[in-house]
Amino acid sequence: MNTLSSASGDISLDQASPFAAARSGIPGTEPRAGLAPGVKLTVRDLTMRYANGHTALRNLNLSVHAGELVVALGSNGSGKSTFMKCVVGLNRPTTGSVEVAGRDLAALSGEALRQARLPLALISQNANLVKRRSVLANVCCGTLGRHRTLATAFGRLPHEEIQPAQTCLDEVGLLHLAGQRAGTLSGGQAQRVAVARALAQRPHVLLADEPVASLDPEAADEVMRLLRRLATEDGLAVVCVLHQPELATRYADRLIGLRRGVLEFDRPASEVTSQQIASLYSAEAS
Ligand SMILES: Nc1ncnc2c1ncn2[C@@H]1O[C@H](COP(=O)(O)OP(=O)(O)OP(=O)(O)O)[C@@H](O)[C@H]1O
Ligand SMILES: [Mg+2]
Repeated sequence: MNTLSSASGDISLDQASPFAAARSGIPGTEPRAGLAPGVKLTVRDLTMRYANGHTALRNLNLSVHAGELVVALGSNGSGKSTFMKCVVGLNRPTTGSVEVAGRDLAALSGEALRQARLPLALISQNANLVKRRSVLANVCCGTLGRHRTLATAFGRLPHEEIQPAQTCLDEVGLLHLAGQRAGTLSGGQAQRVAVARALAQRPHVLLADEPVASLDPEAADEVMRLLRRLATEDGLAVVCVLHQPELATRYADRLIGLRRGVLEFDRPASEVTSQQIASLYSAEAS
């Protein structure tokens, strides 16, 4: 039997095949509308000094528009993950501000801050799926930020989100695996499910920290094509950290280069020279 198990009961998925639902015009299964144009993420003078005194980011400024795919390059320890964590609120920046969809996160707290962060989704190197649960249940988890009821706090998945979750799975080309246990997926499939889970959040800004690090070249290409399409067709503002300059140049609109926590360049991908990229990885860069 094909079910989403939960603490307070199972949600049956047997009524209709996920494929049938997504193709039949059932509300919630339509393609997502493109986002309005404009700047979706603005970072101003961001500095992050950790408690041990290490300054991982210095006065970083960046704007990302709807529909843009920006790739961040830089050697190990140059501050890329620190930047991503500051944007999503896992790190509290020492100084500077982060504006998401026009709202300054530093000016907010409590429930208002939580709401303002909803348009932000983060994907990391590991898909971090719940292995024993179905693919669809994992994608539904992306919606939980919108449902803070007692039932969801105990693990029950919101029934009305199942069809939108199917749409997200369809968008990454894996609807046929909806009922499969997440632990059985290949690395490339798992990462695409992680993208679907992020899409279920209905983000405006999608951050991906080394999303292809553990994938073979073909699977890596597939995930990058997906991120490119989400920017171009759905209007998401995408920021992606990569250690593969070739993939970065191929897929990004803009490249940013970080070196010891400082933004070395922020330019259209076609204008970045191989020397500029090489300088990020030279011995004195780390
Ligand atoms: N919690 C922390 N406390 C102290 N220093 C930290 C902390 N987290 C990261 N750092 C340091 O900040 C610097 C930047 O780390 P970060 O993880 O942002 O680098 P990165 O560019 O993502 O590297 P990689 O390519 O290896 O993932 C490193 O020198 C790291 O040791
Ligand atoms: Mg990192």
